[in-house]
Amino acid sequence: MSGNPARPGPGVDLCAFDDLPDPGARGFRFREDKKLFAGFVVRLGGAVRGYVDSCPHAGWPMGGLDGGYLTRDERHILCGGHAALFRPGDGVCVAGPCAGERLSPWPVKLQGGRVVTA
Ligand code: FES
Repeated sequence: MSGNPARPGPGVDLCAFDDLPDPGARGFRFREDKKLFAGFVVRLGGAVRGYVDSCPHAGWPMGGLDGGYLTRDERHILCGGHAALFRPGDGVCVAGPCAGERLSPWPVKLQGGRVVTA
């Protein structure tokens, strides 16, 4: 789905599942020469979801590497660009300029207590 050479292939270790707050999110950046791939993962109880860190509204990065992807009440993913709100479970925008659109999935999975790319 991506011609971006910086996008990691399957099986790349991202972090320990237990290092993610519940709920919580964390961003990751990968570089290949001058190309950059940005993604983030969201923990939802015992599950984890991954999304490309690019808002469907204007393509801006959603948040920061400090885990600032969620709203203060931790119920939604927030785009800092124009305050769009997304459901963490499926990435659908429920409020904002891109309502009805969705974040691009970045497949991740749990493997031995680690979050890895799928
Ligand atoms: S770039 Fe995300 S709401 Fe505008």
